[in-house]
Amino acid sequence: MKSAEILARLESMRQEDAPTYGGTVLSYVYDPGNEVLDELAGRAMEMARPLNGLDPTTFPSIAAMEKELMRFAIGMTGGKVGKIFGSVTSGGTESCLLAVKTARDLWRTAHPDSTVRPRLVTPTTAHAAFQKAAMAFDLDWDPVPVGPDGMVSTRGIVDRLDDEVALVVLSAPAYPTGAIDPIAEVARRTRERGIALHVDACFGGLALPWWGAVDQWDFSVPGVTSISADFHKFGYSPKGVSVLMHRGRKRHRAQFFATSSWPAYPVVNPTLLGSKSASPLAAAWSVVSYLGQEGYAEAVASCRRSTEAIATAVAGIDGLTVWGHPTGPALALIADTGVSVDRGVDPHRFADEVAAAGYRLQHQPGFTQADGTRLTSSVHLTITPVTETVLPDLLAAMTTAADRVRGRAPHSANLAGRLVRMLYPSPKRPGPGVCALLLRLSGAGSGVPGRLAPLMALTEALPAPVTEALLIELLARASED
Ligand SMILES: Cc1ncc(COP(=O)(O)O)c(C=O)c1O
Repeated sequence: MKSAEILARLESMRQEDAPTYGGTVLSYVYDPGNEVLDELAGRAMEMARPLNGLDPTTFPSIAAMEKELMRFAIGMTGGKVGKIFGSVTSGGTESCLLAVKTARDLWRTAHPDSTVRPRLVTPTTAHAAFQKAAMAFDLDWDPVPVGPDGMVSTRGIVDRLDDEVALVVLSAPAYPTGAIDPIAEVARRTRERGIALHVDACFGGLALPWWGAVDQWDFSVPGVTSISADFHKFGYSPKGVSVLMHRGRKRHRAQFFATSSWPAYPVVNPTLLGSKSASPLAAAWSVVSYLGQEGYAEAVASCRRSTEAIATAVAGIDGLTVWGHPTGPALALIADTGVSVDRGVDPHRFADEVAAAGYRLQHQPGFTQADGTRLTSSVHLTITPVTETVLPDLLAAMTTAADRVRGRAPHSANLAGRLVRMLYPSPKRPGPGVCALLLRLSGAGSGVPGRLAPLMALTEALPAPVTEALLIELLARASED
């Protein structure tokens, strides 16, 4: 095939994608509404394209860009160069994985005779990447239930602290609610006991520094031992770049892997990958150089205005309310239980109606915590600078959508879904073939349907391991022949 034809094919396939600009998708994409940045990041990526990030001594431009990016990241998180040390990673998940691996290794060094698996304590609302990290690095994940407002209590965390805890993770803010965890209070207690505390600021790390008055969350809190922050979210860089920072060189070095015990080149990797692209780093470095503190402050001011305007508008929508106490730049909406059933607005039906008007909000299924308490279903909105340009239209769409679904009961799992539940009551993961059959039976077999409320009802009705197996099957089959 000729280059022109190949690119034309890609162009045509891209027509199927959700819009990545313009503010109609309120998750996944972080649009600063600035074309210059896109052009700049694209050119920087192209210039760095042939490099191999495996070895910054062979390609010193990589080390130079990383040094400058880390300087910026350390400064914005209340740290000082020379006290805080870090590395650029490929994204939030890699930063979270490495934070856990580092804490586990340090814990093992401090407890050489221990035969127990160390624990990872997080609120239920911590990002799922920490569950993955506990699995990957052989820790026991110890989730602390949050209250109905989505907030974890300091006591809830402190009660779990003992010698087997390798790491506590809190978020700034937590993705499901947009709220900042009680970081300063918990840090006082973890510090007294010598327990590591990671602040996951993957979502908010490039927004909170310019937000204005917020609860303390960064390295200015003495007990915070590491922080993750994603440049590919509110840093406005293309996907593939985050940072993980540690208090002190010793912690940072515990993150590395090195070996000379094989017959080829000596291997030293600061992060999980070996050979890697330097393009995302180059993009982030160029965007930061362009925006600087001032550019970020401006972008954040817009996010804040939109967050507040949405919260105010929701207060005027009968049957819906904001979940908990978000700082931003995200918030979630839940049904207002203070109104009579005939005035209630089911979040899933609401989000489907808003989608029909052109705006994609993110469904968050209701969920039963380890202590049996239930967190209600909700709808997530990530608010970016471009949100402000669509605000009047978005708020009108939300108001109309709520009017349309007010009084309608939440979807219950349909007949097929109930059948699936009967067929698979046990919390056991079914295999791929059974999953495909269950998906077909439940009506979700042909990919993600336009209206998600029925799929959410199914998700909420099935035991978690069954839902998880179905989700794996759905995604795997999306790119299978
Ligand atoms: C708080 C938080 N931590 C971690 C992650 C994981 O980041 P990524 O999707 O870049 O792997 C996210 C993603 O939304 C997040 O919001």
